[in-house]
Amino acid sequence: MSTVFRLDASIKPEGSVTRAVSDTLENAIAAAGDTTVTRREIGLHPLPSDAWATAAFAGYVPADQRNEAQNAAVALATELADELASADVAIIAAPFYNWGVTQHLKTWFDLVLTDGRFSPGAAEKAGEGKTAFLVIARGGGYGEGTPRFGWDHASAWLKRVLEDVWGYDVTVIEAELTLAESTPAMAALVDLARKNLADAHAAAEQHGTAIAGKIAA
Ligand SMILES: Cc1cc2nc3c(=O)[nH]c(=O)nc-3n(C[C@H](O)[C@H](O)[C@H](O)COP(=O)(O)O)c2cc1C
Repeated sequence: MSTVFRLDASIKPEGSVTRAVSDTLENAIAAAGDTTVTRREIGLHPLPSDAWATAAFAGYVPADQRNEAQNAAVALATELADELASADVAIIAAPFYNWGVTQHLKTWFDLVLTDGRFSPGAAEKAGEGKTAFLVIARGGGYGEGTPRFGWDHASAWLKRVLEDVWGYDVTVIEAELTLAESTPAMAALVDLARKNLADAHAAAEQHGTAIAGKIAA
C-alpha cells in the first residue's frame, strides 16, 4: 500500500495549475493500487503566520513550563510533521508568487523544521529513502536566456530543504508560462505554454505510475 502526503498551497480556489498537475500525479499513484492520501491545504486555509515563531521559541522552554500558545504551536508543528513523516511519498504543490516561496508554504516549512525529526540537527534525515515530488507552476518563463532568468528565488530553496536537509529523493515537475492564456502580452507564448502544461501532466502520470510500482515491489 502507498501512503501519500499531499500539500496544496495555491491561493486560487479554481484553475490552479499545481493542483491540476498534482491531481494527475496522485491519481496515477492511486490507479496502481491501494493508496492512502493525507492532505493539507494551506493556500485556501492558511496556517497561522505567528505559529512558527511561537513554536520555535517554545523549543527553549521545558515542556511542562510552556504557556497555552506555545503548547498549541508545538502541537500544530507536531501534527504537520506527523502528516509528512507517516507518508512514503510527499507531493508538494508549490505555486510561484512574487518571485519567491509563498508565505503560506514558508510557514509550513518553518513549522515542520521546528520538529525534532525534521530539524537540521536531526540524527537521521526523515526523508531518507523516500520520494518527494515538487510540483511547481510559474506564470512567466525563467529559463536561461529569458529576461527573468535568475528571478526564480523559490525552486532552489524548496529543493534544498527537501533534498539536502530532509534527505528526500526529489523529482521536480514544473509548468511555466501558465499566465499566457490570460495575458494578452503573452499571446505569442500560448502554444509553448500549452506544451509545457501537457508535458507536466505527462511527467506526473509517468512518475506517479513509476513510484507506485516501486513501492509495491
Ligand atoms: C498574487 C500572484 C502573484 C504572482 N506572482 C508571479 C511571479 O512573480 N512570477 C510569475 O512568473 N508568476 C506569478 N504569478 C502567476 C503564478 O505563478 C501562476 O498563476 C501559477 O500557475 C501559480 O500556480 P497555481 O496555478 O497553482 O496557483 C502570480 C500569481 C498571483 C495570483
